[in-house]
Amino acid sequence: MIGWLSGLWGGGAVAIEPASLRDAPKLAQLHGASFHRGWGEGEFEQMLAERNTLVHRLRQGRKTIGFAVSRMAADEAEILSIAVDSKHRGRGLSRNLLLTHLGHLAGRGVRAVFLEVEENNQPARRLYDRTGFTVTGRRERYYRQDGEQLNALIMRRDLS
Ligand SMILES: CC(C)(COP(=O)(O)OP(=O)(O)OC[C@H]1O[C@@H](n2cnc3c(N)ncnc32)[C@H](O)[C@@H]1OP(=O)(O)O)[C@@H](O)C(=O)NCCC(=O)NCCS
Repeated sequence: MIGWLSGLWGGGAVAIEPASLRDAPKLAQLHGASFHRGWGEGEFEQMLAERNTLVHRLRQGRKTIGFAVSRMAADEAEILSIAVDSKHRGRGLSRNLLLTHLGHLAGRGVRAVFLEVEENNQPARRLYDRTGFTVTGRRERYYRQDGEQLNALIMRRDLS
């Protein structure tokens, strides 16, 4: 199933659709540009091949400009990663991507979704606040980045 966003931007309509194995190189590139510890092409290939992993790509015209990945276990899921190409941030695209992704998780019988977010990651915090996630826990000094120790928040959203 493909979710089309109603707005048209320079570069064509934006679509949210399931990713396939062929997307692995581009997803690895986007991930590497967005996170301190990037996932390789092989890691994406593995996730795309697994039945319990759900991967959506955000596409504008012929370009993939974002993705969302989650892993399901029974009636729960964890958002493992979400990112939008830096050139396309600030347009509200991640909200549509995440809401579409959550809709597909609900369709697979998932009732509760969890994620971890670095406490100072304001765009991500706002994204999750606005899509109905609430903080359920905090892990002190959970991430280490450039010698800095950063806290993680655990967030949850029920889908039922
Ligand atoms: C998090 C991310 C996916 C958001 O994507 P996006 O398409 O730019 O998101 P949106 O345009 O919907 O913006 C999300 C919110 O962050 C806000 N925001 C954007 N940049 C911001 C900044 N530098 N500081 C504070 N808030 C910011 C936006 O105003 C928006 O809030 P609003 O809905 O209240 O206006 C994107 O920033 C990204 O890929 N970041 C790198 C990867 C990452 O950190 N992923 C999350 C890991 S948990």
